[in-house]
Amino acid sequence: MPVRPARDTEPHLLEEDEFLREVHSFNFWFEAVSGYLEDRPFGHDPELVDEPMDQADLDGLVTTLCNYCVGEAAALEASSGLVRLAPNHHSRIFLATQVADEARHVEVFLHRLGDLGVADPAAEVEARANPELQEFRRRLLQLVDKGDWNAAVFAQNVLLESMEDTVFRFHEMTADPVTKQVLEGVLADERRHLGFGENDLGRRLHGDADGKARLAGVRAELDPLVLGSFEAVYRDLGLARADQPELGRDYLAAVERLGLSG
Ligand SMILES: [Fe+2]
Ligand SMILES: [Fe+2]
Repeated sequence: MPVRPARDTEPHLLEEDEFLREVHSFNFWFEAVSGYLEDRPFGHDPELVDEPMDQADLDGLVTTLCNYCVGEAAALEASSGLVRLAPNHHSRIFLATQVADEARHVEVFLHRLGDLGVADPAAEVEARANPELQEFRRRLLQLVDKGDWNAAVFAQNVLLESMEDTVFRFHEMTADPVTKQVLEGVLADERRHLGFGENDLGRRLHGDADGKARLAGVRAELDPLVLGSFEAVYRDLGLARADQPELGRDYLAAVERLGLSG
């Protein structure tokens, strides 16, 4: 059994290792999720009932939730594939918690569609899915299938998570009370996933100009799909162009923190 280095041998590395062990643990995850999972079996308080909704608003909400299902299913499939590619146990354990989170997100959004009167949520998702988002999903899964850890973590935990974080936060401000509560719990998870991606890639790409250039290429390919998906969601939420928040501002900020704005 290897002898652990004394704390003063490589204090910086050891602290980072301990930090990751704590953050990428089921214990950390349980503490993070217990506050918003308890008493919310499908992401919201069962006592909370829907207010009457205008038909056009309801239709836009159904399409939006269908697209959330596409994004969440993509993250579920990709994060489970990434468990196998993970370079160490900390990352593998974190991704196992992400798999559970993403499965729950798919579940709560499908359930919400059922609440809103959609008889066959899975068929409705198929029928209403935005083509750009479907293409993003296809490309993300290709990166996983190729075994490209850096590019797949970047596409999923930075690009997709930033996109979801931006859209969900915006939607939360105007959502009906039930959807708002569902989004609150999902958002908390997405921030954790984004944090993992930024942290993992930030360490891996530090001083690696070629690695950054390669991911900048992945980003250039996926950007139009991300921005097209943003536009579709804002349109489905009934926003006039002038009222749209600056498209992808937070998405761009996350990418720039990794030095991939090139
Ligand atoms: Fe998610
Ligand atoms: Fe996520």
